[in-house]
Amino acid sequence: MTRIKVYGGQKLNGTIPISGAKNSVLPLAVASILSPEGLKLNNVPPLVDVNTMLDLLESLGAEYDRKSESPYADVVELRTRSVKNPKASYEIVKKMRASILVLGPLLARFGECEVSLPGGCAIGVRPVDLHLKGLEALGAKIELRDGYIRAVAPKGLKGTEFRFATPTVTGTENIMMAAALADGVTVLRNVAREPEIVDLANGLNKMGAKISGQGTDVIVAEGVTSLRAAEHRVLPDRIEAGTYAAAAGITGGRVDLAGENLPELLSSFREKMEEAGLKFTPFKDGLRVEGSGEIAPLKVDTAPYPGFPTDLQAQTMALLCYAKGRSVITENIWENRFMHAAELMRMGADIAVSGARACINGGKQLRGASVMATDLRASVSLVLAALAAEGDTLVDRVYHLDRGYCRLEEKLAACGVTVERVK
Ligand code: EPU
Repeated sequence: MTRIKVYGGQKLNGTIPISGAKNSVLPLAVASILSPEGLKLNNVPPLVDVNTMLDLLESLGAEYDRKSESPYADVVELRTRSVKNPKASYEIVKKMRASILVLGPLLARFGECEVSLPGGCAIGVRPVDLHLKGLEALGAKIELRDGYIRAVAPKGLKGTEFRFATPTVTGTENIMMAAALADGVTVLRNVAREPEIVDLANGLNKMGAKISGQGTDVIVAEGVTSLRAAEHRVLPDRIEAGTYAAAAGITGGRVDLAGENLPELLSSFREKMEEAGLKFTPFKDGLRVEGSGEIAPLKVDTAPYPGFPTDLQAQTMALLCYAKGRSVITENIWENRFMHAAELMRMGADIAVSGARACINGGKQLRGASVMATDLRASVSLVLAALAAEGDTLVDRVYHLDRGYCRLEEKLAACGVTVERVK
């Protein structure tokens, strides 16, 4: 089994090109189902989750060409004219929960589909009830049988008003994609406002959809009868950028993050990191992050965008292990997203977890240890903590990392930091 070996006591100093956002490219690739005309995506990050999504689309009958634009970005041209089998099987869906995104587009294009229920995962139960309620509001009939969601809309989808009980990212994306081809106007309230949703809506509008309000809590989709071919560039990955910013803070180093709009994309994270003592300086198409070597403790509450992102919570916990004093993190999105705490404690961190709250008594020197990654963001938080630890750390189950971090070792190596894969 491959593990990652992190040498302790290193400092980042260099430039990191930020790849396209994983959570943007996944729904954008799925949006190709909505039109038989084809969709070209630029700045596609070469990630395992992207491969899984392309496998899923291929299993439905889609075709694609993929070329490398740079070591950190691909161009993918998707063609879904040949999609004939609107069934997403458990074999693929179980690998990646974002597969649920095919539900709305398949139903909108074919009037029927079958998608495996994704099941839970390491960070929480992760229900999809709001995806189903949203589609029912659009006129779908839904049945759950044998672990599958069977959805039909024999008379097509009809514009409607629907309010999400809680903002959901992929739920908003699913219903927004279905509504793009519904008959009439759909008003979606209490939607999620993440930049990845804005990116998807912008991509859909290039395909001829009539969507407005993206980025606010009300999205309006004026249904159209068909969508056309389009080309779209995926926005930079704010979570990847935030991860390397935390790495600069932990190691007292400096990193230039190259990517458009990063200061805006990272605003709530940046505010907290500034409170912790990190310095941010925007430059043209990028953001410089400098750690001072002194980290102040923080109170952090995760929340839907524009709040503090849950996907940067684990990395922030790693940073706060090195803060002078007591920090408190409250995780408000996922009920089981503190698995990294126990692993950080194996490295000597002093963390007490109680329900949704974690208290971190920072300032202890962490020591290298063998640790285990439990999910994507947990795995990278262990790498970050290990960079400033005394001695070397071996991180097991690194396949989690490859789902969402593009060429992590190379990007760190460009900043003078050695992280190796070992068998
Ligand atoms: N929820 C429901 N019912 C639903 C859907 C969601 O109760 O039908 C609840 C969830 O249980 C959770 C909250 O709503 O408490 C928010 O979940 P959301 O649906 O927004 O999460 P998601 O769409 O499944 C996306 C990202 C996650 C990220 C969350 C929150 C993608 C592909 N995934 O998941 O990313 O943590 O939003 O921001 O966009 C990651 O990249 O590491 C990752 C886990």
